[in-house]
Amino acid sequence: MQDSLTLTIYLKLIHSINKSLNQQLKKVPVILAIESSCDETSAAICADGMILSNVIANQTIHEAYGGVVPELASRVHQQNIVPAVQQALLDAKVSKNDINAVAFTRGPGLLGSLLVGVSFAKAFALAKNLPLIEINHMQAHVLAHFIGDNKPSFPFLCLTVSGGHTQIVLIKDYFDMEVIGQTTDDAAGEAMDKTSKILGLPYPGGPMIDKYARLGNPDAYKFPEPQIPGFDFSFSGLKTAILYFIQKNVKLNPNFVQDNMADICASVEKRIATILLNKLKKAADEYGIKDIALAGGVSANTGLRQGLLEMGAKNGWNCFIPKLEYCTDNAAMIAIAGYHKYLKGDFVGQNIAPLARMPL
Ligand code: KG4
Ligand code: ZN
Repeated sequence: MQDSLTLTIYLKLIHSINKSLNQQLKKVPVILAIESSCDETSAAICADGMILSNVIANQTIHEAYGGVVPELASRVHQQNIVPAVQQALLDAKVSKNDINAVAFTRGPGLLGSLLVGVSFAKAFALAKNLPLIEINHMQAHVLAHFIGDNKPSFPFLCLTVSGGHTQIVLIKDYFDMEVIGQTTDDAAGEAMDKTSKILGLPYPGGPMIDKYARLGNPDAYKFPEPQIPGFDFSFSGLKTAILYFIQKNVKLNPNFVQDNMADICASVEKRIATILLNKLKKAADEYGIKDIALAGGVSANTGLRQGLLEMGAKNGWNCFIPKLEYCTDNAAMIAIAGYHKYLKGDFVGQNIAPLARMPL
């Protein structure tokens, strides 16, 4: 009699502990995030702002064409999206039923590519009756700094450098960002990719320039620094200067590029990095800001990362450089941005459509 009473009390106690644990677990938002703006299909899961998985499927098909072919990119996204999400769920040890919201890149990017991610996110949310969270890809690059413990304080400056954008952004709050300078023509990543094409290197060019630059002398050749007012940039003149320089030297020595690949890459990388960092310093001085961050695909560049740290050490900055996996396109940055929108209850409806152009 005594034993059965103890057992009943014990079972009731276990039941109430389980119930309270389940309630607490339910409060932790679990977000599925989708990124498909260009040529990476990525899916990530984050729980309460912690990244549990980040799957990135790269598209190699574009290598044969020396650049991203939009029509091919969207077709490969269609093939990759379901396996990428399944893998993200597996890696995170989370089931579809644990998801509380779906965040997705709405823009900017290639319309066909975005359409695949947006349609998947909408379908998943509809099937599971979940809220949808739209994310601006360029804001997400900046918000990648809020993954992990070492976070910048508001307001901070972020140099956001990708294949399509080059911006100095003043970040006042998670979703309150002001572009204070940007490129007037090509982006820094485009300058990397176009230079690499001139040099006959395979796509994507940025990582190839980075690889050869490590073996060369950055002061071997001097390329011009454009004189653009304010905090804006220009890279088209540099691209032309590099083209003429190569053409002139190849006339004198047909093997000029092969013989000097490392020095050319190191010199180009140094010039692109100094153009970016000199403007960043000007902005930091003018705004009196010491928390300085890098973001976007080009922030994976070794010369730029080292250059920022050296400039930061001289100027007493707190420098924030993303881990390599969060520099180039990834869904973890969409997930962390989604988490901060989830906390605000900032959701969108099923009538949402992708945007090829989307201001910050
Ligand atoms: O952010 P991202 O992955 O895609 C866009 O949103 O555009 O950036 C891609 C750009 C490409 O131009 C690529 O060549 C460049 O980032 N990139 C690099 C490096 N890794 C990627 N540029 C220089 N050095 C790298 N290590
Ligand atoms: Zn990007």
